[in-house]
Order: sequence, then C-alpha cells, then structure tokens
Amino acid sequence: MCGIAAYLGQRLAVEILMDALRRLEYRGYDSAGIATLEHEKIHCCRAVGTISVLQRKLTDSPIPGSMGIGHTRWATHGSVTELNTHPHFSMNGKFAIVHNGVVENFASIREFLSLQGYVFYSDTDTEALVNLMAYHYAKEPANATKDRFLESVRKSLLHVRGTYGIAVVCQERPREIIGARNSSPLVLGIGKGELFLSSDVASFTAHTRDAVFLNDNELVHIKNDSFAITTLDREEVEAVRQQVDWDTVAAELNGYPHFMLKEIFEQPQALENALRGRIENETATAHFGGLQMTTDELRSINRIIFCACGTAWCACLVAEYLIERFARIPVEVEYASEFRYRNAPLDPKTLVIVISQSGETVDTLAAMREAQRRGTRVLAITNSVGSTIAREANGGIYQHSGPEIGVASTKAFTSQLCIVALLALHLGRLRDLSEAEGMEIIGAFKQLPSQAKSILDQSAHIQTIAARYQNCSDMIFLGRQSMFPVALEGALKLKEISYIHAEGYPAAEMKHGPIALVAPQCPVFCLACGEENIFEKTLSNMQEVRARGARTIVVAREDSPIGATDDVIWIPPAHAVTSSILATIPVQLFAYHMGVLRGCNVDKPRHLAKSVTVE
Ligand code: G6P
Repeated sequence: MCGIAAYLGQRLAVEILMDALRRLEYRGYDSAGIATLEHEKIHCCRAVGTISVLQRKLTDSPIPGSMGIGHTRWATHGSVTELNTHPHFSMNGKFAIVHNGVVENFASIREFLSLQGYVFYSDTDTEALVNLMAYHYAKEPANATKDRFLESVRKSLLHVRGTYGIAVVCQERPREIIGARNSSPLVLGIGKGELFLSSDVASFTAHTRDAVFLNDNELVHIKNDSFAITTLDREEVEAVRQQVDWDTVAAELNGYPHFMLKEIFEQPQALENALRGRIENETATAHFGGLQMTTDELRSINRIIFCACGTAWCACLVAEYLIERFARIPVEVEYASEFRYRNAPLDPKTLVIVISQSGETVDTLAAMREAQRRGTRVLAITNSVGSTIAREANGGIYQHSGPEIGVASTKAFTSQLCIVALLALHLGRLRDLSEAEGMEIIGAFKQLPSQAKSILDQSAHIQTIAARYQNCSDMIFLGRQSMFPVALEGALKLKEISYIHAEGYPAAEMKHGPIALVAPQCPVFCLACGEENIFEKTLSNMQEVRARGARTIVVAREDSPIGATDDVIWIPPAHAVTSSILATIPVQLFAYHMGVLRGCNVDKPRHLAKSVTVE
C-alpha cells in the first residue's frame, strides 16, 4: 500500500508534493515524509501521523528545492515510528527512496549488505533496497555508454522478489529522478517544463492531465524536463501518452463533513453514470462497449468465476444471485487472495470476471494474471481508468463513479451492483430472458437514481436510529438471497467505520450458531426487502431474535407488513434486480452515523487503506 509522489520542475517541490500526498493519503496514513534535492544536498522531513503533522513540521522548518520525492505510509515492515517512515536513505546518504510495495527477499539482501559493512537504522524492507542501490553505484564502473545511476537502480531491482512502485534520487544527480514499478502502480505526469510521478494520477491532475502509465518491470528516468522509459532488460519503451479526464474538483469535500458522506450522497449520480448509454430499449437489453467478446463467445460461456477483495467481493456475491437468476449461468465467487493460489479447474468456456474499484488491489490483479496465464479470458469491472487491472484485462466495464476518496467503499459498491445487474440483463437476453422481463428490468433501472435519492433524504432519520444503538458492543446483519451480500456489506461497513464487532448472516442460518450472541447489547439489523417469496420467512427469522431479547432495525419496502420491530427504515418498492442497491444505502448511512457518533475517523479508519497493494 502507501502512496508515493515525485516532482521535478521549477516550482517549490514541497508544495507540490504535500498537495500530492494529501490526495494519496487514502493509500495509507500512519506516517509521511518528503525529501528534496538542491545543490547536491538532500533535505528531508518525516513525521509520524497524518499529513497534517508533517505539514506542521514543514511550516516550522521549511525545506527548499524544486525537485523531490514524498511518501505516505501504511506500515508493512516495521512499526509506525519516524525511523521507519519514508524516504529512506542509503547509509552513505547518497540515495533517497520512497517505496510502495514489499521487498519479500529483503532479509537476504540485508544480510548480504551487512557482510559488506552496511548498517541499517530502520526495520523496513525499503532500507535494504536503497542500500543495494548504493552498493551497485559504488561498484559500477564509470562508463560512457551506460548511466551509472540508472544501472545501479536497475541492477538492484533485478535482485528484488516482491512488489514495488519507487522513486529514487541520488545526491550526485541533482536534476534526475528514477521511478520504477512492479505490481504497484506508477504513473508519470507530463507538465510544461515539469514532470510528476505518482501512485495515482489524481495526485497531479491539478497540474497536468497528460499521463503515461508505466507497466511492470519498466523504469522511467527523468532528467530535467525530459524522460526515457526502459525495461529492466534495457529495452527502450515508447511512451503511450494518455489524457486523463479525472476530475480533481470531485476530490474536494464541497461542504460535506466527510468524503464518505459526500460519496454516499453522490450515489444517484454514480448510478446514472453506470447506466448511461448502456440501455437498449428497442431490444430490451443492456450493452457494453468494452467486453471485447462476440455474441457467440458470450453465448458459449457456461460458467463464470467472480474474484475480488473486500467490498468488491460482496458485489460479486450479488452478481451470483442476479446472473444465475436472470441469465441461468452458474456463477462462483472467490476471494482473489484464495483463488490466486488455488488450482481451480478452468476451461475455455469459463469466464473470469474481477471487480476492483481501484484496479490496483494486488490479490485481484494476481488472480486475474493467474487465470490469464492458464488461458482463461478475464473481464474487469473497475472504476479506475488506466489502472493496471483495466489495462491488463481482456475486456471490461468502467464504472464511471468518479474518484472515491473515503477508505470504506460506498458509491463504487452500488455502482458495481448496478453494472452486474446490467450484465445479468445482457447475458440473460442472449439466452432465455424474455423481452417482457427485459423491459421490466429496464423500467427498474430507470427509476433507480430517483429511488436512491429518496432513501438519502432519510439520512437524519437514520442518524436518530444510530444514536439509539451507538453504545452496542456487537451487531448482527441478516438477509436472505440477494440481501445476504448486503448484510455482509452492512457488517463490513460497520466494522470498518465504527469498530463495532459485526457479522452478516443468511437470516435462517442464524439459528445454527450466531443466535447465541443475541442480547440487548447485540441488536439485529434485518434486511427484509429482497425477493418476495422469502419476505415472510425473513420476518420470522427476525421474530426469533426478538423473542430472545434482541432489539431490531428493519429495512423494508414501503407499506409492507413487518410486524413488531424497534426501528424501521422504509425504502421504495423495487424490482429484485435493483433492490440490493437500494437496501445498501440505509446500511451505509447507518454505519456512517454510528462512526461519527462514536468519534471515529470515518474517512480514514484505523489500520485500513483504500488501495491494498500488498498481499
Ligand atoms: C480495501 C478497501 C475496501 C475495498 C478493498 C478492495 O480493503 O478498504 O474498501 O473494498 O480494498 O478494493 P478494490 O479497489 O479492489 O475494489
């Protein structure tokens, strides 16, 4: 995880880098640091805590320079201390590096270097890497045909097992920066007389939208205002420049107290974006521009495996219900971290679909590559244009949700649900789904943004409910069929945001264990708004927990007969294809208000990061 940034230009590097780090803070926020280079002197400032702590330190002791590197950390190797904070330096002080990723063989590198007399001051894997660069630099002969700085970085990376996105500076090269990547994102921004490097394009779009996304095993060597990209094997790479349409304005709070709340409220718009241009009334279907599969190929698929992590994994579970029901294709759902190491049988009629908001989650990326290595076609549903997953997938669907800054995913999740619902319609219409059923689903999509808006209007009501439960110690979320994944997502949101222990369960399974937890301090959140045929059964499950002393909150369709409950949140009546989207909004708002009431940092929950680029 972690976020890295680099700048080389004419402006004060610290200002540019601090702005970049603020925009990258979602990738990690336990400590941060900056190093700049001026007149062959490296200046550095590091601080434990959020970027604002670093900002205070820099205000007290500013550092000069018009080039530099910066880092915001999510600790992997070594606890959260200033010594473990990036940038890290080689022992001789000549090299400084920022690194996102994990050097898995750092212990052997460190042991080798220790035998050469190198001393280490931190517990990090990164310090081993930067010293290896210094080691190769010292050994590298002055050679007219090869660049000594570049060669020392290249040789060091050839030793590395693991993942990295790095930016390195060398004291003897005051107007140069080297960046490189393997499985951790890195993008170059090309401005007028200035160049940027970052883990995320959003950190420099305020300055330029001209970007080059680096591929694995590529290095970029920045010198003054020019750059050259090569592979680790010294092959020259032609830079593919792209214009990014990412809107930095969207990454501001715009009057909301938190990004999470802003993003929850952006859902009607995000849903409209997911639907835009994808509905075909004439043929009662949905279509996508980027699947890169013919109709015959799509028809020949007889099994789909969905892979993802975290909230995106919950979206896969909804896909299972919808695609099996409407397209009659068997679906399996896998945690990407499990799938990548499991020898799952794959055949040419199997399609793998990965879902990832960031397009950079390392386990999802590895699962995708593993399926592709075995000859399976992989489609990706992602929000991040130009991300590694988007670029490497065989085809895919963009969410167009706009930047999601809050660490806990909200609008990206409901947008993923909307896209898998569209996909169920598309695949269904290629098979047996009737035109009348197709039109019914299209009707449901058309109402979706305004229905979502009407639930958002109940935010204050949900806040009042949350206030009644804010001191509970545990919570159980129940749902059946397509509401089960929503129950899992509700429990995940509450855990992430308010640190209350929560579990999501299929409502009828409750009796097989979790019911033992039921007590007044363990309220039950019941999602009774899914498939009609299990509505009454879900309510019976709710009555079972009430009979044992649980307080209950129920989400139900307006005017449905829900019986006794402590609290209720009504949602508009909806088709099965969209009800999981609508039912998600109350659980998001509930988790948000619980988190705020309990004084938690809802945008940056402890120990979490938005983009997980370590296994
Ligand atoms: C992290 C985030 C989650 C997210 C998961 C998968 O754990 O905190 O909110 O769901 O990663 O991320 P992705 O970008 O692949 O959807």
